[in-house]
Amino acid sequence: TRPLKVALLGCGVVGSEVARIMTTHADDLAARIGAPVELAGVAVRRPDKVREGIPAELITTDATALVKRGDIDVVVEVIGGIEPARSLITTAFEHGASVVSANKALLAQDGAGLHAIAEEQNKDLYYEAAVAGAIPLVRPLRESLAGDKVNRVLGIVNGTTNFILDKMDSTGAGYQEALDEATALGYAEADPTADVEGFDAAAKAAILAGIAFHTRVRLDDVYREGMTEVTAADFASARGMGCTIKLLAICERAADGESVTARVHPAMIPLTHPLASVRGAYNAVFVESDAAGQLMFYGPGAGGAPTASAVLGDLVAVCRNRLSGATGPGDSAYTRLPVSPMGEVVTRY
Ligand code: NDP
Ligand code: HSE
Repeated sequence: TRPLKVALLGCGVVGSEVARIMTTHADDLAARIGAPVELAGVAVRRPDKVREGIPAELITTDATALVKRGDIDVVVEVIGGIEPARSLITTAFEHGASVVSANKALLAQDGAGLHAIAEEQNKDLYYEAAVAGAIPLVRPLRESLAGDKVNRVLGIVNGTTNFILDKMDSTGAGYQEALDEATALGYAEADPTADVEGFDAAAKAAILAGIAFHTRVRLDDVYREGMTEVTAADFASARGMGCTIKLLAICERAADGESVTARVHPAMIPLTHPLASVRGAYNAVFVESDAAGQLMFYGPGAGGAPTASAVLGDLVAVCRNRLSGATGPGDSAYTRLPVSPMGEVVTRY
């Protein structure tokens, strides 16, 4: 069988781990897919940076030329941000490739547009890594729970802010010191404002709500408060009440069953609640549905290797589809429920 060619867009915290695992697990991946996968090119901004394990001839600064090559089976987009990521993904579809992305900011802004192009071109768009790092959540919601009725998705979906809040609470660390550590560990976004002001969690809430409730939710539909104003004094008072403070994303059907709400804000959590025990950059998400009841998804929510695990899982699925001539679940379920205006967001935890 011919090798499947993969173009890697971005080789930073996540991309370098994707490349490493593709190399070290090459035989296992080939066995699981049914064909070898070959790294055909790696697009970066700084070509002279030393990148361990990546042949220099694969490195390019011309990502557009790479996705236009025409012989690429799968484009893995781990650059981040809106542009040039959106144009590169669109061009990739138009030139015959399927796409795996970890880019929640882009998917929350224009997931519907990207899905439309993917469907038009009959190509896959997978993005398990965009929500909660290594934790399988997108595909369980989209596939395993597709026959159930999900009513609520609630939890911690940002590793950086959980790391900071945990450090502030458990060691008395200052906000800036904890943020610097989270950044050094590769958890934070390129601009950590996205983490601490709740934009990243809101993007993930938009993606989760869209999939869980079969509707269209964009970043701007999500009510958002960050955690920059949480102080040591807040932790002291929370402790006095037997609580800690976590940044939560909450997506739920409104009581009328006709609309959905999605919001992100700091919340007091009783120390006895499982979410209070989520430490460091771990994430935990509860999904409540009619038939299944309550499910909890828990694991590493950020970092190079955990995120690469989710990317590789998508890569295997997309490559298998590619070989079988099929495409995975598309976006046909969109737009059944209207999205609530944010004025309806009233419940606070
Ligand atoms: P990094 O900043 O570490 O890496 C970004 C990579 O993209 C770098 O290799 C950079 O090149 C390259 N790049 C930037 N601009 C361009 C461009 N115009 N053309 C070509 N290459 C470019 O980011 P992360 O790896 O942390 O994140 C990547 C994506 O994964 C983002 O969407 C992020 O939100 C998402 N994500 C990140 C997680 C994490 O824990 N870090 C977890 C889940 C998702 P160079 O190396 O030369 O600078
Ligand atoms: N910056 C993100 C976080 C990366 O801290 O959760 C994982 O999506």
